[in-house]
Amino acid sequence: MVGFRVMERPIPLLMCEALDEACAAARLARELAPRLCVRSSAETPETPGCVEYHSLYPTLRLLSLAASPDRHADFFGAVFDSLAKSGATHRVLITGTADSGILEYLLLAWHRANAAYPSIKALDLCETPLRLCKAYGQRLGVPVDIRAGNVLSSGFPEPFDLICAHSFIVKFDDEARPLLFAKWAELLKPGGCVVSTVRIDPDRGVRTIAHTTDQADAFESRVLAAAADWLEALGTDVATLKHELACHAKAVISVPVATPEQLEQELEVAGFAIERLDVVDRGRAAASSGGAGGERRATYADFVARRI
Ligand SMILES: C[S@@+](CC[C@H](N)C(=O)[O-])C[C@H]1O[C@@H](n2cnc3c(N)ncnc32)[C@H](O)[C@@H]1O
Repeated sequence: MVGFRVMERPIPLLMCEALDEACAAARLARELAPRLCVRSSAETPETPGCVEYHSLYPTLRLLSLAASPDRHADFFGAVFDSLAKSGATHRVLITGTADSGILEYLLLAWHRANAAYPSIKALDLCETPLRLCKAYGQRLGVPVDIRAGNVLSSGFPEPFDLICAHSFIVKFDDEARPLLFAKWAELLKPGGCVVSTVRIDPDRGVRTIAHTTDQADAFESRVLAAAADWLEALGTDVATLKHELACHAKAVISVPVATPEQLEQELEVAGFAIERLDVVDRGRAAASSGGAGGERRATYADFVARRI
């Protein structure tokens, strides 16, 4: 079952290589995270340590138990296909990425369009997911330029045609979100676009992904059951998984946007025109793949915003 799910991932490799690739990423994350992850940062002192989050994420994704771009595969596939076919997207920036997920959807679209890959940069606070992106690019012969840093203080010598991210906006609270949108606008060429997703929740508040002990326990049981036959291939054991899950549930915070209208309005203030906005209820998917708080409501806005 797990192997079958892995095959659904957008890896432009032979089918028989896909499982190896996903297991290799899970092992690499576990190896890199203790050495490279952010434990604290003078620039972002509020940032919790990310060791357990980054070491565990590719494992959860492989088991189809992560809230990942795979849940928005149709959206990213359709939008990136159209950008790849247009031939007008040459410089791409990924802002925030827990593993190589978004990169995989990008490369798959350009592969399908039989187009020359764009120049791709990936930026994240932490080096671990960036190394996963680099390794994935190397596997396919596509250079991926990586930069560790806070997007809000980032600058690049040339603007981008496309900025993309999965579920990155929830890392910014109501005060910081407009700063992110302004930074995206600054980093894009006029006519360039942001392609992203964000969770919408009118009853929002700042939340960790675990709401209750029962939810955390239920999620732990699901992960352990799904991983049972895969521990060696994933480079882990039950005790490590349990420890990672406990820390993961506490460390990951998320600030949804209250309404799609609020999202539109804030993007427009930052200088964007909304080109596409799909409000999609992913409640059922979230129950099995949203992390420890997965039973909660999960409405997403998948959007394309063009810089005016
Ligand atoms: C993009 S979000 C969500 C991950 C998502 N599920 C995915 O598909 O990759 C998580 C990532 O954002 C990064 N991050 C959080 N705040 C950031 C910031 N201010 N600048 C750059 N990266 C940031 C974290 O280090 C983490 O790797």
